[in-house]
Amino acid sequence: MCGIVGYTGHQDAYNVVINGLRRLEYRGYDSAGIVLDTDNGSFEVAKTKGKVDDLVAVSENLKGRATVGMGHTRWATHGVPSDRNSHPHISNNGKLALVHNGIIENFDAIKTILTDKGFTFKSETDTEVLVNLIQYIMDTKPELDFSIAVRFALNEVYGAYAITVMHADYPGVLVVARLGSPLAIGLGNQEYFIASDASPFVEFTKEAIYLEEGHMATISLEKGVDIRSIKDNSKIDPVVQELKLNIEQIEKGGYEHFMLKEIFEQPKSIHDTMRGRLLVNEGIIKMAGICDHLEKFNNAGRIIIIACGTSWHAGLIGEYLIEEFARIPVEVEYASEFRYRNPIITEKDVVIAISQSGETADTMAALKLAKEKGAFIYGICNVVDSSISRITDAGSYTHAGPEIGVASTKAFTAQLTVLSMIALKLGSHNGTLSTGEFRNLIAELYAIPKKIEEVLETTHDTVKEIAKNYIGAQNFLYLGRGYNFPAALEGALKLKEISYIHAEGYPAAEMKHGPIALIDENMPIVIISPRKGHYDKIVSNVQEIKARKGQVIAIVNKGDDQVTAMADYLIEIPETSECFSPIVASVPLQLLAYYIAVYRGANVDQPRNLAKSVTVE
Ligand code: G6P
Repeated sequence: MCGIVGYTGHQDAYNVVINGLRRLEYRGYDSAGIVLDTDNGSFEVAKTKGKVDDLVAVSENLKGRATVGMGHTRWATHGVPSDRNSHPHISNNGKLALVHNGIIENFDAIKTILTDKGFTFKSETDTEVLVNLIQYIMDTKPELDFSIAVRFALNEVYGAYAITVMHADYPGVLVVARLGSPLAIGLGNQEYFIASDASPFVEFTKEAIYLEEGHMATISLEKGVDIRSIKDNSKIDPVVQELKLNIEQIEKGGYEHFMLKEIFEQPKSIHDTMRGRLLVNEGIIKMAGICDHLEKFNNAGRIIIIACGTSWHAGLIGEYLIEEFARIPVEVEYASEFRYRNPIITEKDVVIAISQSGETADTMAALKLAKEKGAFIYGICNVVDSSISRITDAGSYTHAGPEIGVASTKAFTAQLTVLSMIALKLGSHNGTLSTGEFRNLIAELYAIPKKIEEVLETTHDTVKEIAKNYIGAQNFLYLGRGYNFPAALEGALKLKEISYIHAEGYPAAEMKHGPIALIDENMPIVIISPRKGHYDKIVSNVQEIKARKGQVIAIVNKGDDQVTAMADYLIEIPETSECFSPIVASVPLQLLAYYIAVYRGANVDQPRNLAKSVTVE
């Protein structure tokens, strides 16, 4: 949800900001802008609707003009994507520039007051209100220092924000603040970087400070980084962290898109998720987060899983896994619903939040609510040190490596891997799984990366060919049963997100209660039909589809005969236990969505209207 980059140092700020914005484009890409504090003491601003490339086209004349500047890539909240609504926003007197990620909820009331005072507004954004509020405070209290004025303004607003502000009379100074949206400060050699995540500065420094909730910082070459509480200005000692990220992880490495690279990385990413935790030879799972809190889970009245989007689908599979293997009741909720429906939460509940980014606003808010009510809160996140991972009582990182394609792929299969390990560990600990069953299952799980390697090798070309037939499709239905019902939901979501074809996922048996009415010779139906898990029932469902002339694209196990005999297209995957089959089946579903979208000419890494890190409600 919007990316912010800032820089003060000795390099060309234009290059640092533009390259940084390209890395953050996953956060939003409907418009982009840059402001530089040039050597002659004035701001140079360029902004435009469109992507960072469009910004470059209108701003290349700014190259080499400054060593201080900041930029923004936007995901619109207030006001349509347009040149006017793009950030940075400049105050009426031209002295202040501000970029913002988040929402100022009381902007309307402040705008009315400022309008009465004679302020005018060029955009429909909440951000332009904030920058003018800072100007108003400085106009009325000229004795205030720039950073103090920013602090006063922030105490007047509520909502969520990460901001960076520059003032023309304070050359080389950047003021940043955070409440609800992430911000990292990179500490270079005689230079400082600011960014929504560390990727824009990873090649320049491995040292960073992650600004905490409710903190702000004033940054300059002369005075370094001065961190304060927004509320009371108290001084805060910075915690400097060493970055583990490296540059190769955030580049495409020869693939046409990040999404394809990330699909192909899955044998490795799943292996990395299990590394040091699933010790197949010793027959144990040792995952600190869960092992240190086994009794908490064991004694839980129930486990509530909260998440959004793809992570919510992982949560549904988590429910099947934990209930089957550990026999602990599980509920799965959309975070956005959970937080607003006055849920019953007790101190005996364990609440698991699943979030790739660890920043999703709804998931964060739902988690805070659960924490307030005394539940034990556990996080499953991919991004190390993300907001969710920092507020939870305990948790497990998925360790899938940075995921840049907006549509989640390797993070999803890593989430399923973590959930599998949690369920198996709990089951073996509380005795619902025998030692023999546990050992067999962990051996199966350990073999999944090899099976995915095989799937990538053997199904890639087939899926590519199948995809060509569906470039013009208007609708798709995805069906599965048991563990593969959530896998069907996820397959449909992938297609929707990146190809813009309407797709619905359904439990295969539920088809007869509605979607069957849609089936005719034009309706493609993807059906996940592994041999283990309700196979006979699936065979009947395929018969029902064929009786209505629907086109069946079936995911089957090698050597399958019954579904094979009826399907129009086949994608063969190796057999595994039913509980792990969604991990394997998801891979061809990701490839299918990817190739249909590519053939339709869609921008798969940056699908329209979506963003990877959704830090607004
Ligand atoms: C956005 C992304 C989805 C993601 C969802 C939840 O909508 O486009 O890919 O599944 O957010 O994100 P999280 O980071 O919490 O897993």
